[in-house]
Amino acid sequence: MWLYLVALVCLYYLLCWYRERQVVSHLRDKYVFITGCDSGFGNLLARQLDLRGLRVLAACLTEKGAEQLRGQTSDRLATVILDVTKTESIAVATQWVKEHVGDRGLWGLVNNAGISVPTAPNEWLTKQDFMKILDVNLLGVIEVTLSLLPLVRKARGRVVNVSSILGRVSLYGGGYCISKYGVEAFSDSLRRELSHFAVKVAIIEPGYFKTVLASTDLVSRSFQEAWDRTSPEVKEIYGEKFLAACMKSFELLDKICTKDLSLVTDCMEHALIACHPRTRYSCGWDSKLIYLPMSYMPTFLVDAIIQWSRPRPIKAL
Ligand SMILES: NC(=O)c1ccc[n+]([C@@H]2O[C@H](COP(=O)([O-])OP(=O)(O)OC[C@H]3O[C@@H](n4cnc5c(N)ncnc54)[C@H](OP(=O)(O)O)[C@@H]3O)[C@@H](O)[C@H]2O)c1
Repeated sequence: MWLYLVALVCLYYLLCWYRERQVVSHLRDKYVFITGCDSGFGNLLARQLDLRGLRVLAACLTEKGAEQLRGQTSDRLATVILDVTKTESIAVATQWVKEHVGDRGLWGLVNNAGISVPTAPNEWLTKQDFMKILDVNLLGVIEVTLSLLPLVRKARGRVVNVSSILGRVSLYGGGYCISKYGVEAFSDSLRRELSHFAVKVAIIEPGYFKTVLASTDLVSRSFQEAWDRTSPEVKEIYGEKFLAACMKSFELLDKICTKDLSLVTDCMEHALIACHPRTRYSCGWDSKLIYLPMSYMPTFLVDAIIQWSRPRPIKAL
């Protein structure tokens, strides 16, 4: 009896494994547009897909980033300058994509561009601080998607949105977690709507990875700036000791971040070229072992874990 059960489970996993390995055909004719290719995941994905033979349309924020990427890739990869917060810039990039893809349409759209700061406890921040992140990470994703959707629909292609494990567990204040929760919600509704047109939508949920965005330097500088700007009343409530303890915890960031970015770009690639892409990909040990399980726990337990692991404001009751 147990033997049959084990054999059945093994067979199930074997079938899943086989199903996941099926790849779509004619990769060399497929165009993929990626935002935020100057550095990090976007940059690596652009180079990876170029090597794989796909036609990569890489959007960079700066000319320097675009030039460097072109220097490292084949002539098939083309670059464009795109600031996802600017409607005119998105319109120009969309026209550029149209000219490249012609009647084929756009097979893949990867919404990867993102920022992580300003970050600090909510009370230290202003509305503008929240808007700055939401503008890039959420409204940027929405506007780029709406603009390129007709081309993706034409190719019956894929939309791959880069969220984060912080789109499942709100670990800290500021716009970042809010923006990623928004990306999750947008992607879910988009997936359901676009399934009518054979367009697939996948969500990438990395844990902490070693890129500029998650560096100790950037995060602690942003925290310090928010502290410097906040009111004397808030400073008195939180206290210098709280600030120092937070700064010390950020030093861990560079140490705990996963260095192998390909764990994320391999998931992005799978979402783009597999016949049966997953809806969600969690990437990195912390994502799989800590944050994903946490996201299924009851709220009171998650609250307790987060409070226990964090410094307490000096005037905490
Ligand atoms: N690293 C992590 O631990 C982690 C975890 C979960 C999710 N993510 C997500 O992964 C994505 C990529 O981040 P990354 O870690 O690879 O960091 P990254 O190296 O900083 O890459 C972000 C890219 O977005 C670009 N960008 C910033 N503002 C932009 C704008 N307004 N318009 C267009 N492009 C813009 C950046 O350009 P410049 O380099 O020129 O500034 C950069 O190329 C982000 O969506 C991030 O939220 C990262």
